[in-house]
Amino acid sequence: MDVTYVVGCHWGDEGKGRVAFFESANSDLIVRSTGGNNAGHTVVYKGVKYPLHLVPSAIINPEKKCMIGPAVLVDPAVLIEEMEMLSKTVDITPDRLKISGRCHMILPYHKALDQLHEQNKGAGKVGTTGRGIGPCESDKRNRIGIRLYDLRLPKDELVSKIHTAVNIHNILFNDFGMDQFNAEELADLCYTYAEKLLPFICDTDEVLAESNECNQRILIEGAQAYRLDLEHGDYPNVTSTSPNGSGTLSGAGIGPVYATRGIGVIKAHCSRVGNGPFPTELCNEQGDVIRELAHEYGTTTGRPRRCGWLDLVILRSAKITMGLTELCLNHVDTMGMLGKELGTIKICVAYDYCGKRIRYFPDDMEVTHEIPKPVYIEFEGGWDTEGCKTYYDLPAKAKDFIDTIEREVDLPITYIGIGADNEATIVR
Ligand code: IMP
Repeated sequence: MDVTYVVGCHWGDEGKGRVAFFESANSDLIVRSTGGNNAGHTVVYKGVKYPLHLVPSAIINPEKKCMIGPAVLVDPAVLIEEMEMLSKTVDITPDRLKISGRCHMILPYHKALDQLHEQNKGAGKVGTTGRGIGPCESDKRNRIGIRLYDLRLPKDELVSKIHTAVNIHNILFNDFGMDQFNAEELADLCYTYAEKLLPFICDTDEVLAESNECNQRILIEGAQAYRLDLEHGDYPNVTSTSPNGSGTLSGAGIGPVYATRGIGVIKAHCSRVGNGPFPTELCNEQGDVIRELAHEYGTTTGRPRRCGWLDLVILRSAKITMGLTELCLNHVDTMGMLGKELGTIKICVAYDYCGKRIRYFPDDMEVTHEIPKPVYIEFEGGWDTEGCKTYYDLPAKAKDFIDTIEREVDLPITYIGIGADNEATIVR
């Protein structure tokens, strides 16, 4: 089989959906493999908008088969709502949607724990999405998680498993004067999910084995991004899962040898939700202009995003950690508009950090307490991409911007986004 994965290179919300849209057309199986409903994007089909958080967007194409891999954290209530919303216009059948029984479930106590931790972390607040991601992943690692397969258990066994988990968490809820959770009630809640989800739950390794035997093309839609990776990102201001390249593959159940392409998605600027370092952040009117022009407000939480210049230091490091072979550059139209407003636009190509000029992202900022000072190259901005169909149609200033990124990180840009619609894409 032949596997392509699509990942974000900065802090998420780079527009991975655009690449997924084009690449899924040539894929037999489309897989979501990391994160949970902390991710989200809106798909428009036949004039109807679908806000999706868990189901791969290719599900709207009736010819495609989709899969939710074992590392995805599934809030069953959210998944069911998504499936019901989609099934008003699209056929959602167990034949087309395969969900791994090994996925861990986000249950109500995980969301309560997420809030409790955030409220009590003081200055160490991460600014999570509040979806229960961290507590669910930590229960999984602590081997007290509840998986979708557990929905097949008889009640006494399910209650006993849930009891083991909530028994521990209830001590904390009690200490903070919060309501405690009852294992039996939670088991009853799980059975309401079971009815709807069990027909779709399967061993997704079998699905992959079949794809391999038939030499199929697989597309994996990554979630979140490089700097939000638990291991390689801005710890502790990260998510609790592994959106890096190998995490994206392994989250599906696929070994690295099958991957032929790793497509990294970036924007012509950078944005971040939540707390943590952001060396090229613009905490001024310029940042506000980017936010408005690029509509930088979270799809999942609606929070205004922090905005700044494109950071190629991070991208160079992402290339290695994420295993990138090519790039998709979105918002080239937005950067053109921004140039009209601001005159000069910038790209960060190095940092001055701890007395040195560096080209790769440093990993000890938490202890040096030093924020890298970006070294920029400047461009004369202001271009219009309207009506451009190929790279050659683009204005010289836009081409210079694109060529500079390719040269600085030594990766080809194969998709160029010049508008919000998927149609506004130059494919090279
Ligand atoms: P959590 O994943 O909800 O635990 O949040 C941890 C950090 O990751 C927070 O800063 C979130 O804002 C950020 N985060 C999680 N998912 C996304 C995403 O899909 N896009 C952008 N930021 C995200």
